[in-house]
Amino acid sequence: MATIALKNVTKDFKDHRIIAGIDLEIAGNACTALVGPSGCGKSTLLRLICGLEEPTTGEIHIDGQCVNALSPVERGIAMVFQSYALYPHMTVFDNMAFALKIAGCSKTDITRRVQQAAKTLQVDHLLDRKPKQLSGGQRQRVAIGRAIVRRPKAFLFDEPLSNLDAALRFQMRYELARLKVELKTTMVYVTHDQEEAMTMADMIVVMREGCIEQQGVPLDLYYHPKNIFVASFIGSPTMNFLKAVVEAAQEERLFLRFLSNEILSITIDPFALQGKEGLFSKGSMVTIGIRPEDISEGDPTENKEGVCLKGNISFVENLGNETYVYVTLKEGEHVSLRLAGSCFYKLGQSIFLFLCPERCHVFDANGMAIKCLKKGHDEHLNG
Ligand SMILES: Nc1ncnc2c1ncn2[C@@H]1O[C@H](COP(=O)(O)OP(=O)(O)OP(=O)(O)O)[C@@H](O)[C@H]1O
Ligand SMILES: [Mg+2]
Repeated sequence: MATIALKNVTKDFKDHRIIAGIDLEIAGNACTALVGPSGCGKSTLLRLICGLEEPTTGEIHIDGQCVNALSPVERGIAMVFQSYALYPHMTVFDNMAFALKIAGCSKTDITRRVQQAAKTLQVDHLLDRKPKQLSGGQRQRVAIGRAIVRRPKAFLFDEPLSNLDAALRFQMRYELARLKVELKTTMVYVTHDQEEAMTMADMIVVMREGCIEQQGVPLDLYYHPKNIFVASFIGSPTMNFLKAVVEAAQEERLFLRFLSNEILSITIDPFALQGKEGLFSKGSMVTIGIRPEDISEGDPTENKEGVCLKGNISFVENLGNETYVYVTLKEGEHVSLRLAGSCFYKLGQSIFLFLCPERCHVFDANGMAIKCLKKGHDEHLNG
């Protein structure tokens, strides 16, 4: 269960800076997920950690020691790739034993280690089969087994489940989570699937263009995204963003006017506007963010504390256990709602949407979040 640290690491390919000076501490015995859009440098970061690439500048430390000069084998870290090329002519046993044979382990040691890993991964009944006789999920487990037998200090996973179908991905996600507990190891896990990151990881690192945008425990990122980029990246369906202007800004309260002229009053952290007064003068543009599950069908005649916006249903996705409803507001903006159970609406039907102020996020003209007091959200975090 190694700790891994990156200290001001950069990586250039020719004259392109791909990793732009990253400082990151990866905790031992925990799973850290790297997420971010395609091309932001996630795989490059993994390759730098395991020694398949050399940093242009900066240092990589494993358990407190700089490993820049060490080869991948000397670093003792295993990497599992998305395309888990197993040797087709070898049995599962031989695939898993291969690295140990090369390392010169004894036959009894190899057998013991392969059998133990196979049991953990529930492929112990498949040891005599060839890869083509396995399902996709079983092959992926063998690929992970190949890494486990080496007893690495840490596992680096590069989108290990993205080739699998939805049901298998779900099953493997559960198995990897179980493995993490069983092996008490350090995992760095790259995924495009933010739901996978939310469920697997103890810590999520959101990257953009070779930089870290935000890192934190999953629910903290969900409830307190630092900016619009993180807010839109974490959560599915994605957070809704609505334009508004500042009507008035007081020390602990913001009054924001939607395009529909409705006013939203939001309680903010008393220090939130310090140094940002210019961005919150009357008439300044802001963006209000609200997650699809934090909008409900409203009744404008009810005197609830909050805002009711009028729109028309443009699309409905009924999934049985929940319903996604897409609404076009009168002013042309689009909003999605996530409602529990099956809900039936007619396309074009008008609807009032209730936005609870405690659930709203506010972003300034630069897309940076203002600290709001969200009691409901923070209860989740404490729980
Ligand atoms: N060996 C290389 N030579 C030149 N450019 C490279 C090399 N490897 C990666 N890149 C570039 O570096 C950038 C980051 O690539 P990387 O594979 O790390 O992205 P990623 O975040 O893993 O993307 P994806 O989610 O699509 O896998 C890309 O623009 C890619 O084209
Ligand atoms: Mg990649």
